[in-house]
Amino acid sequence: MAIQKVGVVGCGLMGSGIAQVCAQAGCTVVVREVSQELVDKGLKSIEKNLQRLVEKGTFTEADRGAARGRLSGTVTLDALKDCDLIIEAIIEQLPAKKELWSALEKLCPKTTIFASNTSSISITEMATVTARPDRFLGLHFFNPVPVMKLVEVIRTIATDPAVFEEIVEFAKRLGKTPVRTSDRTGFIVNRLLVPYLLDAVRALEEGVGSIEDIDNSMKLGCGHPMGPLTLLDFVGLDTTHYIANVMFDEFKERRFASPPLLKRMVLAGWNGRKAGRGFYDYADPKNPKPMQLT
Ligand code: 3HC
Repeated sequence: MAIQKVGVVGCGLMGSGIAQVCAQAGCTVVVREVSQELVDKGLKSIEKNLQRLVEKGTFTEADRGAARGRLSGTVTLDALKDCDLIIEAIIEQLPAKKELWSALEKLCPKTTIFASNTSSISITEMATVTARPDRFLGLHFFNPVPVMKLVEVIRTIATDPAVFEEIVEFAKRLGKTPVRTSDRTGFIVNRLLVPYLLDAVRALEEGVGSIEDIDNSMKLGCGHPMGPLTLLDFVGLDTTHYIANVMFDEFKERRFASPPLLKRMVLAGWNGRKAGRGFYDYADPKNPKPMQLT
């Protein structure tokens, strides 16, 4: 039976985007946050994005209303108990994720599929707290979710191949291009992206070029939509540092080691766009200015 009702846990940047694309694809979506304030904030950002689609002519007013009508917010996990699929997009901390999956295991019927949007935590390890490792997998979206076409679908050695293919088809229903991968830290994208981003920081540390010149080189020389230091600010320096540490821990290879400058910027709280500064100063968000870091 096709997936009709989707539960999304976490309504931050990723969770709200995931909830939006599921509702746009015709699913009934219940999104859960830990407080009503966070539920309201997440739903407001979805409403803004849906409105933007109407203004651009991608969506009719009726489409917008229908997608919004399929979405509801909650602060309880109980409201997710009759979902066909639950997608988790909470904080990247294993204990928090284990606690959540263990609670959902008790609430949901055996048929519900569990998927995590984690970018680096082992899917296999999360599945150990449930009795359904065969119906547990990774579904990794990219920021901004409504725009980025890719979804990584991640199987563990225990994932049922039929469930895996069902989720590959579901990703297509969302208008995304799914890629199949397995539960190895970083999957495909971060395995390749993280060493590249870390190398850009090393290039800056070593005086190879200025912030703007490093960014312009990759934008104009390789056709990337954003230079690596702008992308680091966009993804979050703390997030990238965290993923790099998990990958270094797994592979023990220098290419995954977080460079000293990145570590110090994270310690200083200069985490990028969301913090108002990172490699750039966002005092005027439309006109970011490179920071003096070296
Ligand atoms: N939500 C919804 N839509 C958005 C958006 C958002 N947050 N930001 C931009 N958009 C839409 C705009 O409305 C616009 O739509 P249109 O073309 O239909 O008019 C389109 O995206 C392009 O936006 P802009 O013209 O404002 O700006 P850009 O052309 O510079 O595009 C960008 C912005 C799409 C973010 C582009 O710069 C880009 O692709 N950057 C790279 C992003 C990337 O690499 N993401 C992956 C990060 S890695 C990750 O997420 C994995 C994790 O594990 C770390």
